[in-house]
Amino acid sequence: MTSDNDHNSKDEQPDRRQFIKGASCVIGAAIGAVPMAAGVRVALSPLVDKEAAEGGAMIRLGDLGDLETGVPMKFAIVADKSDKWTRYKDVPVGAVYLLKNEKDEVTAFNTVCPHLGCFVDYRSKEQDFFCPCHDSNFALDGKMKRGVSPRGMDTLELELRNTSEVWVKFQRFKANSKDKIAIS
Ligand code: FES
Repeated sequence: MTSDNDHNSKDEQPDRRQFIKGASCVIGAAIGAVPMAAGVRVALSPLVDKEAAEGGAMIRLGDLGDLETGVPMKFAIVADKSDKWTRYKDVPVGAVYLLKNEKDEVTAFNTVCPHLGCFVDYRSKEQDFFCPCHDSNFALDGKMKRGVSPRGMDTLELELRNTSEVWVKFQRFKANSKDKIAIS
């Protein structure tokens, strides 16, 4: 025999799961910008704070020699922010994957999923990028493999300066749009 409460708790479970997934998207977009995993590099913006915090700044993330061939490495982006009264130091504003190939060519991706803004993980065993919020898979070149994301991962403009310095233009893009539209 089941009570109404039993029914309710069973009926509510999918909703709760959906809520948790949705909440993790929002949390990811809001505060999960800097991954906590060991080995994540932190790049402090050398440019104007406001520009770095809002996106669109060229930021030096490291040197070619820092990157392992064929293995995406994640770099956290932090910048100083301020409001009318307070200045906040080293606020997480996003993260970037850098992937170097055998020819020393480097591709940069924003780590945010183009669907609804969760953070995409690199999975070494599967050799792919994976968004846990709604199970979207991306190949290492950023192209969609399967899932609900309307486009592949967003690449970022990258420059090699002085032959080995890796500089990336950190930008955000419109979520859930087929087209890649910069919003900062
Ligand atoms: S946020 Fe939905 S698949 Fe990534």
